[in-house]
Amino acid sequence: MRKVAEVMVALLIGILSSINAETDPTDASLLNILYTSLNSAPQLTKWSSNGGDPCGELWTGITCSGSRVTGINISGLGLSGNMGYQLDRLTAVTTFDISNNSLGNQIPFQLPPNVQRLNLAGNGFIAGLPYSISQMTSLKYLNVSHNQIQGEVTVSFNSLTALSTLDFSFNSMTGNLPQSFQSLASMTNTYLQNNQFTGTIDVLANLPLENLNIENNQFSGWIPEQLKSINLQLNGNLFNSGPAPPAPPGGPSARQPQRNPQSGGSSASLTSGSIGSGGSKSGIGPGAIAGIVISVLVIGAIAAFFIIKRRSRKSSTDVEKLDSLPFAPLDSQEVQGVKSVQTSSTTSETPAVINLIPPPIDHHKSFDDTDVSTMPVLPPKKTNTPPINAKFFSVADLQIATDSFCVENLIGEGSIGRVYRAHLDDGKVLAVKKINSSLLSKTEDFLNIVSEISRLHHPNVTELVGYCSEHGQNLLVYEFHKNGSLHEYLHEVDENSKPLIWNNRVQIALGAAKALEYLHEVCSPSVIHKNLKSANILLNMELNPHLSDCGLASVIQEPDQASGYIAPEVAMSGQYTIKSDVYSFGVIMLELLSGRKPFDSSRPRPEQSLVRWAAPQLHDIDALSNMVDPALNGLYPVKSLSRFADIIALCVQPEPEFRPPISEVVQALVRLVQRANMSKRTFRNEGVGRGGSSDAETP
Ligand SMILES: *[C@@H]1O[C@H](CO)[C@@H](O)[C@H](O)[C@H]1NC(C)=O
Ligand SMILES: *[C@@H]1O[C@H](CO)[C@@H](O)[C@H](O)[C@H]1NC(C)=O
Ligand SMILES: *[C@@H]1O[C@H](CO)[C@@H](O)[C@H](O)[C@H]1NC(C)=O
Repeated sequence: MRKVAEVMVALLIGILSSINAETDPTDASLLNILYTSLNSAPQLTKWSSNGGDPCGELWTGITCSGSRVTGINISGLGLSGNMGYQLDRLTAVTTFDISNNSLGNQIPFQLPPNVQRLNLAGNGFIAGLPYSISQMTSLKYLNVSHNQIQGEVTVSFNSLTALSTLDFSFNSMTGNLPQSFQSLASMTNTYLQNNQFTGTIDVLANLPLENLNIENNQFSGWIPEQLKSINLQLNGNLFNSGPAPPAPPGGPSARQPQRNPQSGGSSASLTSGSIGSGGSKSGIGPGAIAGIVISVLVIGAIAAFFIIKRRSRKSSTDVEKLDSLPFAPLDSQEVQGVKSVQTSSTTSETPAVINLIPPPIDHHKSFDDTDVSTMPVLPPKKTNTPPINAKFFSVADLQIATDSFCVENLIGEGSIGRVYRAHLDDGKVLAVKKINSSLLSKTEDFLNIVSEISRLHHPNVTELVGYCSEHGQNLLVYEFHKNGSLHEYLHEVDENSKPLIWNNRVQIALGAAKALEYLHEVCSPSVIHKNLKSANILLNMELNPHLSDCGLASVIQEPDQASGYIAPEVAMSGQYTIKSDVYSFGVIMLELLSGRKPFDSSRPRPEQSLVRWAAPQLHDIDALSNMVDPALNGLYPVKSLSRFADIIALCVQPEPEFRPPISEVVQALVRLVQRANMSKRTFRNEGVGRGGSSDAETP
């Protein structure tokens, strides 16, 4: 009886405490995940991996407002592990400080979306900044200093107008400063020291900066005049010490200052005269009079200069007007990400594209106020044809090259259209995709699509060579990959074909994942593929994968539910996202592992859908060895196989929010390849095969 009463009391307390829990259950569960990802570190006192009440129980570093978690400050606690991959659901968090710990690898794509203070400094982060930062419009303080972040900054700063402090110092960042820095209208403190940045610092010229440290980089060119009056630290760069470039900011030569450093004597007097900041504060004397005379002359010269400039601007072409707009008409970040955006190779009608890089904005010196107000807000004459960086082919050209689209040259057929092999006169072989005309309502739509595709450049994305839009025909011309598609490799096997060995399979998965990472996280806006399947992964002679049909999402109408690649939420709602791409990618990995088709009606019913059959067994080593492609003949490292299966399991989860971003898949595959290389010797000796239960990596 007493026992029962005790149990009742305990239950009651339990119920009461859970009723009284102050914390929003979603926030609490996300902190549970974070705790687990941080290896359940004991320094995180009160934290739990399951349930609990972070706000009510005063978990270390957690601050709340009402029931929502608004702040996470777990700085300097000696934490290791990672940040997990669901922080983007912590929508009320405004402060996130995980600085001065030992977290490694990649900064996750998912970060609290409404964060104002984000401090990731002093960890071991390596890979680049996640593109998701571009969308954090509330961000005021961003600190990633003292990591080992490499590569160019591919984040777009166009929307980060609240950002006032940015600290990138002590990393290994390279490349030029992104043009989108120009949009940082609130930026007062910028720390870029001790990186390997190159190019000029012109994009910073017109920001409301107070403190700027750019020491120990490889910046070159001239220091913009506007920055000479702020607290500027610039030692250890390659700046030009000669006289400043002749024209004022906004003029054509400010953009390319290296061109002719010393043209025009008037510019020399401009810098050496009394205009230079902090110059002559001397009292009145004979020298001062001479100074005043010189000043008058100099001011006169400046006035004359601007009057002339104004005249010449009035008579300038539309192109120049477009060029002198404060903000570029195209998202300059896209230019960053897709480097080789160029003008059309076929026409000279779209010269506006040449000047994709906008000139610096000049808030301080608005000599030209009147001109600004009369400037058009949009490009005055927008040509109908979007910029296309691809060759134009005529229907006649392609008819000849494909033997009038004869059946012998037909190499594929999908929902979008047929693909033909084309032999050009110069001996080149190309693949021509004829888009079903029912999928396109207007020629303009097609040209827009071509324009989009022509901007995609990645070693694992099939390169668009040209296009044709004539007589109601719309065709895309691509590079040709002799080895056909992964689909053919896996599923159209005959006695002559060589099966893919395990390492090839991992490499193909990695290359394809990198292509997808480029589309999702480098391109801006993100490109959703929508049609990932093994038939769209083309292999070259070295079996390097090339993802095809990128940028064709808009012509895909109905999800092909029977294909086996479609994520469950797409089947239900028709809504494609980057996470539905990740699902389809997981299915491709499953194909690589099992050698089976995603949907195979020739198999017994429970095995027809590959995901449904395989997903429940992915964590079971014994089941895995039965699932693996028999064509491998048992030749695979067991550990590699099981890690590969773990990645698949994450990708094909039914809930899209639990699937990792593709960049994490890339990282996981990179680690898998690295480990495979490290343990190659051991693995030769003992670790091969389904019989080999020995772990190739444990010493
Ligand atoms: C986090 O805590 C540390 C030390 O407790 C402090 O120095 C730092 O300013 C805090 N960060 C934020 C964003 O409040
Ligand atoms: C970083 O954390 C360590 C303890 O882990 C502490 O001793 C050190 O002072 C911290 N440094 C900074 C800059 O916060
Ligand atoms: C960024 O974080 C580092 C390490 O915690 C710190 O030393 C530095 O002062 C911070 N930068 C700014 C601008 O607050």
